[in-house]
Amino acid sequence: MEKINAIITGIGGYVPEDILTNEDLAKIVDTTDEWILSRVGISERRVLREGLGTSFMGTKAVEQLLAKTNTNPEEIEAIICATTTPDYFFPTAASMIAHNTGCVNALTFDMQAACTGFLYALETAANFIRSGRNRKLIVVAGDTMTSITDYTDRTTCPLFGDGCGAVLVEPSHEELGILDAVLKTDGNGLDYLNMKGGGSAFRATHDTVDKRMHFVRQDGQTVFKNAVVFMASASIEICERNGLQRENITWIVPHQANKRIIDATAKRLGVEDKVMVNIQKRGNTSAGTIPLCLWEFEDKLKKGDTLILTAFGAGFTWGAVYLKWAYDGNA
Ligand code: UT7
Repeated sequence: MEKINAIITGIGGYVPEDILTNEDLAKIVDTTDEWILSRVGISERRVLREGLGTSFMGTKAVEQLLAKTNTNPEEIEAIICATTTPDYFFPTAASMIAHNTGCVNALTFDMQAACTGFLYALETAANFIRSGRNRKLIVVAGDTMTSITDYTDRTTCPLFGDGCGAVLVEPSHEELGILDAVLKTDGNGLDYLNMKGGGSAFRATHDTVDKRMHFVRQDGQTVFKNAVVFMASASIEICERNGLQRENITWIVPHQANKRIIDATAKRLGVEDKVMVNIQKRGNTSAGTIPLCLWEFEDKLKKGDTLILTAFGAGFTWGAVYLKWAYDGNA
């Protein structure tokens, strides 16, 4: 039987209108534009208004994707939503997005792999396609990180922003699309990157609110070091096993958590001149960073371009995906 590859055939995205600049943050906590820009590489981030949830952004991204690709929503067979900040514990954000966009025939589920979520969801969608049973799937990924950001904690509040991207995944017999994935978990990250309140271990109480346990906490330096080591090692592993040299790679698309993490990873891979970066204006949108990068760089992408997507996040989870882009972005 002829091999079925899973290709991305379109991309949509959405970031909220409201902008939070470094100057705005300097009025709330003891920080400066200079510190944030030089240590993290962010000058502004988008913030979703209170009362709206991740499904609002996911709906906008999917609506744009369906319109751009001229797709009938009734043909969509699955929506996988990668997010750590769904509107509710249940129902899923994916089910709300399907309802809002008229994808009435889709199976839907959310997938939680923190900042690595898009890569996990993309490989899962690819496996649906490779099975031969499905022909049109959507992966929508993103987070409302500002809903779990503590704006009294200067060490975390500059980092995060809100946004969502969405891709259409379809079959092809050409040697294109999601050609390989290295996806890993070590489970050593709990103490270093977490939000402890509100789950089954620490149920939401006055006490968990008073102790500010419903916000992201991290040991920044430990997360930083692990992010560089593991994004680089996963990318090297996927290049080696697919015989890819530096010169074969068109773009590295790294998770956007800190410009210094991106630079250090790119340096280890020797690809400093081929890196997609939008952190300066978007911040860390967790599962949203990679699809938002692809969305914003779409017009630079050509059919056959070789991309390495790489991410690292809570868990720890991390990985790399080898993707051959399937269409001319400016067509
Ligand atoms: O997606 C995964 C989630 N997270 C990440 O990937 C984040 C990974 N970590 C990082 O990006 C960095 O560790 C941070 C940006 C969080 C922190 O940068 P750093 O260079 O590791 O700074 P640091 O924690 O070593 O702090 C250096 C100094 C400290 O002051 P002292 O002790 O040297 O006097 C901090 O108190 O910078 C201070 N500092 C700040 N100063 C001004 C920390 N945050 C700020 C701030 N403004 N916002």
